[in-house]
Amino acid sequence: MKHTTLFVMIAFLVTAIFMGCGDDKKGRSGVRSDVQEAAQKVYVAPGDLDEYYVFKSGGHSGQVYVYGIPSMRHISTIPVFTPYSATGYGFDKESKEMLGGFTWGDAHHPSISETDGDYDGRWLFISDNANNRMARIDLRDFKTKEIFGPIPNVSGNHCSSFVTENTEYVLAGSRFSIPLPKGTFETIEDYATKYKGVVAGIAVDSKSGKMTLGWEILMPPFNYDLGDAGKGPSKEWGFWTCYNSERATGKLEVTSTQKDRDYVVAVNWKNAEKAIKDGKFKMIGGVKVIDPKDVKGVVFLMPAAKSPHGVDISPDGKYIIASGKLQSITTVFNFEKMLTAIEKQDFTGNEDGIPVLNYDAVKDAEVNVGLGPLHTQFDDQGYAYTSLFVESAVAKWKLGTWEVVDKIPVSYNIGHLTAAEGDTKSPDGKYLIALNKLSHGRHLSVGPSQPEASQLIDISGEKMSLLYDAFTEPEPHYAQIIKADKLNPIEVYPKEENKHPKAIWDLKDSKVIRNGKNVEVYAIAVRSSFEPTTIQVNKGDKVTIYMTNIEQTTDELHGFGLNEYNINVVIDPGETKTIEFVADKAGVFPFYCTNFCSALHQEMQGYLLVKP
Ligand code: CUA
Repeated sequence: MKHTTLFVMIAFLVTAIFMGCGDDKKGRSGVRSDVQEAAQKVYVAPGDLDEYYVFKSGGHSGQVYVYGIPSMRHISTIPVFTPYSATGYGFDKESKEMLGGFTWGDAHHPSISETDGDYDGRWLFISDNANNRMARIDLRDFKTKEIFGPIPNVSGNHCSSFVTENTEYVLAGSRFSIPLPKGTFETIEDYATKYKGVVAGIAVDSKSGKMTLGWEILMPPFNYDLGDAGKGPSKEWGFWTCYNSERATGKLEVTSTQKDRDYVVAVNWKNAEKAIKDGKFKMIGGVKVIDPKDVKGVVFLMPAAKSPHGVDISPDGKYIIASGKLQSITTVFNFEKMLTAIEKQDFTGNEDGIPVLNYDAVKDAEVNVGLGPLHTQFDDQGYAYTSLFVESAVAKWKLGTWEVVDKIPVSYNIGHLTAAEGDTKSPDGKYLIALNKLSHGRHLSVGPSQPEASQLIDISGEKMSLLYDAFTEPEPHYAQIIKADKLNPIEVYPKEENKHPKAIWDLKDSKVIRNGKNVEVYAIAVRSSFEPTTIQVNKGDKVTIYMTNIEQTTDELHGFGLNEYNINVVIDPGETKTIEFVADKAGVFPFYCTNFCSALHQEMQGYLLVKP
């Protein structure tokens, strides 16, 4: 990429932003669809239910936001990497331990578990770009159940999380190469040789969903970016893009845009699995890492358009689609051709022992989609939809003929996009959401800290049409849309499933046990009181409260808010939570129920008496 080209791109982007600022605030101009028709398509009458759920990553809020489609109504927030007092997440012992001392995460890319390449509605995985973790949310109760990590050797887990066809693995990797193992010091001048990237597969237990490290592969010091798992014929492969193949440091906007191409990384995870099994690995950072210098046939590179931001596999698993955000083309690689090139060793070089495949031998097409292409989703009619960041538009194009058939402008600067089940083997079509970075002028002003914009687009017809604008807290990266009837969440935790060893179900079993300075309280929350209502301890005691909500009625949550002790735990019906603290402040401290539960909710209170 020549610098002049880059400057033209930047100039175009700046112009696009300023043009946005001048738009009419009432904002209906430029909307293609008939407003009344659009309103009918998104209106979900009171009491009626949406057809789809959408799970949006909450970026550096650390959360996942759940909306209904087509109404775009916000239904729920699932706290993942950040404490959330609304649901008591991060305040009880169990969730505190899961958060591992971190108070934030950068929730990036959600990935619903799959069976045979289709969403199965069991779990939602989401990556943490900041602290190198992977979380698993159970879609049975919409709660975070596991946080895996920090993952050894993985630094900036941005290129994550994407599940393989039967959720054998969740893909992970390093956005930022660093000296390995973590904790090693090397000067920045030695970046090109002594810093390393890693791509990884986190194994998922098919019954419990529990995560363990499957394999890691040592990679050159590039910046690894979004990926996708293969499907059908390519199901044993995982793909990522990378940028900064220059191995540059400093101002990457200049230093990492010198070459003409970056790469798509292709990993045969079956071969990675085998290499680990055969003992072909090194121990780095306490885990098994495959070095491609020593192990052949595991990883290959395909030259792609400059500075790609992701790769997407077509529903039939035949095409590998990568967009270079500094060019106007999307590159389509042919999986069969890739296998042939590997077999014939049609290589043009290597990077730290990783073969680089001959571009002309593996490429099927360069689709001229528009400026700043980022990500691609699919429908049920053989079309692909690519987000165009610089152009602020979505391009619709045909797989196989590579012809761009429609384009719709969005407001403004689209990043990700998501179509209904649009990254599975059987996309639904119907709806697509443009996740835009800027929203100015399209909502009531809330001051300098603006929400993010999401635009719902109808993709059921030949032409795309804009249906609805909605907003969300910072900052959705990727999102996934699943048919609502694939989920069947529970409404209470059945009593017989409560395995908490300290749970009690009868008020007369409530007790306080003192053991030296340790005080254990077996407590119950039920409409509309706590049992016990008074807890007396001595200053300096370690207090542990096992609080069971014995309700078995939908919506009957109770909270335990303790004044000036910075504690709020919410207990769902049938649930037991452990509240642990040191009574380090003497005096009398009221506690009360924080969730409205009955006409006598206000009366649901008690006192902690801390004797000096
Ligand atoms: Cu229990 Cu309010």
